[in-house]
Amino acid sequence: MDDETAPARVAKLDPERFTGITERTRYEDFLSVGPASLAGRLLRMFWQPVFVSENLKAGRPVRLRIMGENFTLYRGDSGAAYMVGAICPHRGLQLSTGRVVGENIECFYHGWTFDGRGQCVAQPCEQKSFAHKVTIPHYPVREYLGLLFAYFGGGDPPELPVLDVFAGEGFVELREELRPWPVFTQIENSVDETHFNFAHRRTKFDDIGMNKAIPVLTCEETDYGLIRRGQRGDSVRTGHFFMPNWSLSSIYEHKKGWAEHLVWRVPVDDASHISFMADFIYKTGEDAEIYRRGQAAAKERLAGLVPAMKLVEQVIAGEMHADDIPADRPDIVMIQDAISCVGQGATRDRENDILGASDRVVSLIRRLWTREMRALAEGRPAKRWKTPRDLRTTKGVNSQ
Ligand code: FES
Ligand SMILES: [Fe+2]
Repeated sequence: MDDETAPARVAKLDPERFTGITERTRYEDFLSVGPASLAGRLLRMFWQPVFVSENLKAGRPVRLRIMGENFTLYRGDSGAAYMVGAICPHRGLQLSTGRVVGENIECFYHGWTFDGRGQCVAQPCEQKSFAHKVTIPHYPVREYLGLLFAYFGGGDPPELPVLDVFAGEGFVELREELRPWPVFTQIENSVDETHFNFAHRRTKFDDIGMNKAIPVLTCEETDYGLIRRGQRGDSVRTGHFFMPNWSLSSIYEHKKGWAEHLVWRVPVDDASHISFMADFIYKTGEDAEIYRRGQAAAKERLAGLVPAMKLVEQVIAGEMHADDIPADRPDIVMIQDAISCVGQGATRDRENDILGASDRVVSLIRRLWTREMRALAEGRPAKRWKTPRDLRTTKGVNSQ
């Protein structure tokens, strides 16, 4: 055995790497999210956030692209939100151009009208209406934490998971970011705490001492997904990953302190996703106002800076180095994550990854997805995941 082959041989002997994962096609399926793909079918078994509720104005339908498919989302006069198919079945106009009439949506072109359950209820140009024979797809919608969730799995939806971690004194801050890299790449990034010490140098994580020691990661499967821990000295940082694509952890913002960070990663298509983030900010009254003003100032400042993804493209292209990006940018952590994710390529073959024990959280997520996708492929029941309401996180710094 020569030295060049040694690393690969060592990796192949690591049981954590291969348990439950043997076929190349399974890895590739992590990245395909359309309705016929295994990962797409898995994701469709769970409620997915699709829109920030307050951004959906009455009378202003929107076209959404989620998991490689297009949809129409609109709010009826009662305030209820409805999600139906993207296209009018008459002659194919994009339905989001239509008008909201009561609880229904009327096609802009010839007025075919659909209710929130996708039933055609009017065909004003037809002397003999056959509306009762015409339906379009519809999807259940619920609101939670200011986000609109939809269920794409057909049939009766499961219960929408609810956590009581946000029940204390404070407020929920919502953010959504379209990120041009695959959802699974982001999922792996967000549970991988060892990358803080490298990708997130020159950031708030240095300031709070998180990067002083490389954490030792452990994890185990739970009723809802997995619990993960990062041990730094005698401090343990605990986070929760919920199958198949959301998570809860504590995050630290410079000068603003700690918050609970709930985030869903929802594919737009195979190569991009939206991160819907609901942060619980432990501030009330004047403190909350100061926080909000600080966030508004950061947003205003960002608007005057070179767009984040432009910098990422330049780093990937070798036109600049990541460490040349000013560390005081409000979005520096996201930029570092974007470099880490985009730089892997959108179709990376994970089969050839050489994983070690520090990748055990990533390995477990791959195993869980693979196991569930394999069950789907073979027509066996998937695990019935249960989300307890009372999960808590620990920060892992200063023994908290
Ligand atoms: S295309 Fe919609 S009513 Fe004609
Ligand atoms: Fe990161």
